[in-house]
Amino acid sequence: MRLSAEFHASATSLGSCPKWDRYEIALAGRSNVGKSSLINALTQTHQLARTSKTPGRTRALNFFTIGKDLALVDLPGFGYAKMSRDEAAAIARLLEEYLAERKRLIGLVLLIDVRRGPQDEELAILRIRDTDEESFNVIVVATKCDKLRNSERAAALQRFRVVGIEPLMVSAQSGEGLDTLRRRILALGSKRDGDT
Ligand code: GTP
Ligand code: MG
Repeated sequence: MRLSAEFHASATSLGSCPKWDRYEIALAGRSNVGKSSLINALTQTHQLARTSKTPGRTRALNFFTIGKDLALVDLPGFGYAKMSRDEAAAIARLLEEYLAERKRLIGLVLLIDVRRGPQDEELAILRIRDTDEESFNVIVVATKCDKLRNSERAAALQRFRVVGIEPLMVSAQSGEGLDTLRRRILALGSKRDGDT
């Protein structure tokens, strides 16, 4: 299955986000968890979203269009230890505003490193959705599954299950889970198309 995307724009504030009718599906997660790599892998486009060995590279919201009605949004990563406190606070505020106020947001792909499992920050994001009834659907994705040995898989999954999460196991590197994720993203988009 193909998922073609094109870069549209970057925004560093809610006010400068695109004014359009597209539904948005955003990728959120800790810095370095693999958001930009996953966008490239999903769309099979090399460096469509910029990736880096240095964490904390994506400081803006980056918008990518898919077809006529949908967009993917690469969100800035949180929890990067070396970022200044002011900068970390600014990013946290931008993320919170976007998640709470962006009307076109219909889906959130929440990325969690498979070897790390969900932490307080990720659980807090899941609670935003639980408390806001007009909110978005969430797909929790466990990233970098290629780094697990087979013998480590059950324990890794258990770190998610103890907090009630059944993640989709993916790897931008090996391709594991990508087709399922493409399908789930497109299904979220088409569900809304039928709405009035
Ligand atoms: P920020 O923009 O800082 O928030 O980071 P990000 O979440 O966009 O992470 P990015 O995609 O830039 O990837 C960070 C690092 O993880 C890079 O060195 C990637 O090559 C690596 N990486 C990403 N996905 C995978 C994966 O599925 N497997 C492996 N082994 N490495 C990955
Ligand atoms: Mg990035």
